[in-house]
Amino acid sequence: MESKNRVLIVGSGGREHAFAWKISQSQKVEKIFVAPGNAGTEGEIKTTNIDISPSDIDSLIRFSKNENINLVVVGPEDPLVNGITDQFNIEGINCFGPSAEAAKLEGSKGYSKMFMQKYGIPTADYSTFDNVVEAKDYAKDKTYPLVIKADGLAAGKGVVIVENYASASKNIDEFLDQKKFGEAGNTIVIEEFLTGQEVSFIVMVNGEEILPLATSQDHKTIGEGDKGLNTGGMGAYSPVPFVNEKLNEKILDSVIKPTVKGLLSEGIHFRGFLYAGLMIDENLEAKVLEYNCRFGDPETQPIMMRMESDLYDLIDSSFKGSLDKFPIEWSSKVALGVMMSSRGYPGEYETGFEISGLDNLNNDILKVFHSGTKKEKNKIMTNGGRVLCVSALGQNIQESRDLAYSAVSKVNWKGCYFRKDIGFRVIR
Ligand code: AMP
Ligand code: GLY
Repeated sequence: MESKNRVLIVGSGGREHAFAWKISQSQKVEKIFVAPGNAGTEGEIKTTNIDISPSDIDSLIRFSKNENINLVVVGPEDPLVNGITDQFNIEGINCFGPSAEAAKLEGSKGYSKMFMQKYGIPTADYSTFDNVVEAKDYAKDKTYPLVIKADGLAAGKGVVIVENYASASKNIDEFLDQKKFGEAGNTIVIEEFLTGQEVSFIVMVNGEEILPLATSQDHKTIGEGDKGLNTGGMGAYSPVPFVNEKLNEKILDSVIKPTVKGLLSEGIHFRGFLYAGLMIDENLEAKVLEYNCRFGDPETQPIMMRMESDLYDLIDSSFKGSLDKFPIEWSSKVALGVMMSSRGYPGEYETGFEISGLDNLNNDILKVFHSGTKKEKNKIMTNGGRVLCVSALGQNIQESRDLAYSAVSKVNWKGCYFRKDIGFRVIR
């Protein structure tokens, strides 16, 4: 049995915990490091946290050479946009995640809109601006609501939906003049508001090879009924029942294949997870809201619970050129994860509270994935806005939701918050 493989996972969220949990189950993997990880990754077998920031690429490379790492899996977008994969490639170490050039699909919304327009990929009508007067002029005679987005990375928070011109004008000032999102908002995209249901359509890509993963639906806003400010995601489930085989094929044909073809036409080799955030309207037509160049968080958590294949093998196949032939297998059960967050998130919040009730929760059908947590003197403390994603695997979505919320009710800390309606679009 080959069990000599040594993996480095870059990131500290629930997505990275789910990767570590899943890869640790591979017979082919001897050791996993997570940089910097969290209290959850630290608790997985074969897994050790290392105190290196995802932005410190030089130290990650030095560490990987010293520890004979043969696969790096990058969770978050920032290091990808900053070229982590390009640098590992120079060192000859396999790094799963797109190059900086390919990651621009997520790193610049202006670029991704231009790309979609060029390659005929359905998306909302839009314009880009770096000038306040021109942006306001454009917004004046539009129909509302209208969507305003920071061009660059803003952790899922750089998007506002405005109901009238007064609000548009105020937001244009905040983005472009007051630099609410810093450099990321030097340019803004103003686009048409789309209605329908959102689906996270995530595939693995290696050049022209495509392997679709299970579908999922995130819950982006902080409030129940999809109200309030956008967050990184407050809960997700998989699969999405209305994405049947026909719709699946349609999304592959109208969005994923043209995207991959477009990348190749631009001379860009994309290797990694490619996530199309879609809006599906009542006629089952899909439009792209955004691309991400990585797996979703919290989508990863329920999707990993359903994945029956060996994740190490799966990622490794992309380096062997056999990704699209990989016999991926999924549980037919439904997985659902509820995100528990700090009071105040996605605005300001406090951390450093002890989390109670975590003992003996994990089993074959229930897993608490950690996001913003850290261990201090054997206590598990909150250490971020999104703290835990309590995920369950049930025969149907009702069962997985009941299992997840029953576990959520046992966990507590000062100021803990969660949405009570994860899955509401399919559970009436
Ligand atoms: P994005 O980062 O571009 O995916 O935007 C974050 C969230 O804002 C999306 O998941 C949607 O919920 C919402 N959103 C973004 N663009 C639009 C749009 N054109 N119409 C309606 N909602 C949108
Ligand atoms: N959950 C949305 C994202 O990862 O972008």
